[in-house]
Amino acid sequence: GRTGTLAIRGRLLSFDADPAVEGEAPSVRFIEDGIVVIRDGIIVEVGEGPVVARRLEAGIAVIDHRPHLVMPGFIDPHLHLPQTQVIASYGQELMEWLAKYTFPEELRYGDSAVSEEASRFLLDTLAANGTTTAAAYCTSHQVSAEAFFTEADRRGLRMLAGKVMMDRNAPPGLLDTPQSGYDQTKELIETFHGRGRLEVAITPRFAPTSSEAQLDAAKALAAEYPGLPIQTHLSENKAEIAFVAEAFPWSKDYTDVYERYGLVRPRALFGHCIHLSDRERSALADKGASAIFCPTSNLFLGSGLYDLAASRAVGLSTGIATDIGGGTSYSMLTTAAEGYKVLALKGQKLRAFEAFHMLTAGNAAAMGIGDKVGRLEKGYEADLVVLDTHSTAPLRRRMERVQSLSEELFALMILGDERATVATYAMGRKIYDRYHAGHRPLA
Ligand code: GUN
Ligand code: ZN
Repeated sequence: GRTGTLAIRGRLLSFDADPAVEGEAPSVRFIEDGIVVIRDGIIVEVGEGPVVARRLEAGIAVIDHRPHLVMPGFIDPHLHLPQTQVIASYGQELMEWLAKYTFPEELRYGDSAVSEEASRFLLDTLAANGTTTAAAYCTSHQVSAEAFFTEADRRGLRMLAGKVMMDRNAPPGLLDTPQSGYDQTKELIETFHGRGRLEVAITPRFAPTSSEAQLDAAKALAAEYPGLPIQTHLSENKAEIAFVAEAFPWSKDYTDVYERYGLVRPRALFGHCIHLSDRERSALADKGASAIFCPTSNLFLGSGLYDLAASRAVGLSTGIATDIGGGTSYSMLTTAAEGYKVLALKGQKLRAFEAFHMLTAGNAAAMGIGDKVGRLEKGYEADLVVLDTHSTAPLRRRMERVQSLSEELFALMILGDERATVATYAMGRKIYDRYHAGHRPLA
């Protein structure tokens, strides 16, 4: 909408390319004192603070966030709307956890009031964590997706979401049918796709909960809407993989099931991808799909350790996500920290610049929205997070020994959490402010 012109001043950090691929120098754009000029929600200029300030017309408000970092808003490419009250449920691995905690809770989301309240909570919490875009699984109930889209649109957010398609191996109250899953997804596309900043994702939950007839319906939707995002789960857990092998006896492997149904393509987001074979990784990469690494979830459910080096070796793009509520933190900083530790157990490394690239431009690219969000760049939507690298006593103390930006960012990702969020903007509109959120200003 038309919100006029404003300018935001701070320590600007953005990524022009993936530092893991191109190296740091051409990838990292940092301006120690920079200004982002925003007109009607779109970035129109990014430059050196003193230079831009001199040129700015009188009367344009400059919000001075110095000495804080200003980055593109974080992007969370995998989470579940109905799992905000499943998070931190004790002691089961994936298949039992789904049956014991997740499915019973998801039954509640047939009630629109439940879905509306959860949507408000989730979007408030994402904003408090500096997350401005997510790819969300709703439940199989049409109303859950309607509630989420309506609330996201009201807030002017760029969001991907889908009604979950699942027609077997769950309680009857969660099951749709091949026809109703198709019809409801189509109706959502017609109603919400392209409204404001919303996009509908075709969302078969995962192969174990869809019949072949339903996967055929998902295939038909994917063919009718070739530009649409797709989201599902893949190769998270050994028992899940064995289940798929039994349910689809003709399949070469788990990925083959999704390939057979035309679901492996650009903008297809495959959550987890832990136990893939080389063939599967290459198939995903060759078809332009993305793997979504969910470290807190993979540790919490004991699912396994994602292999980033193997993905990189075949050119499989990797996003990183919270997976609320298998995941245990809404914070993309904490998510990056746990990702670092998972990779450490694999003998691999995640440098700070690589991690912050992943949280922003990398996740945007995986979702196929890398031309709209994820960078501080002219023409991009002004979704921003302002971060305080000294937000807690442990951070302040650690920062006394920090020698470089990359060390500072590394300490922020390892020690930081939602308390580091000073402010969050969507299309240049402030959607979160630390000092107005009941957080006491830190001394
Ligand atoms: N696989 C299928 N559904 C789910 C889910 O809700 N959470 C996780 N972590 N894995 C899944
Ligand atoms: Zn998930």
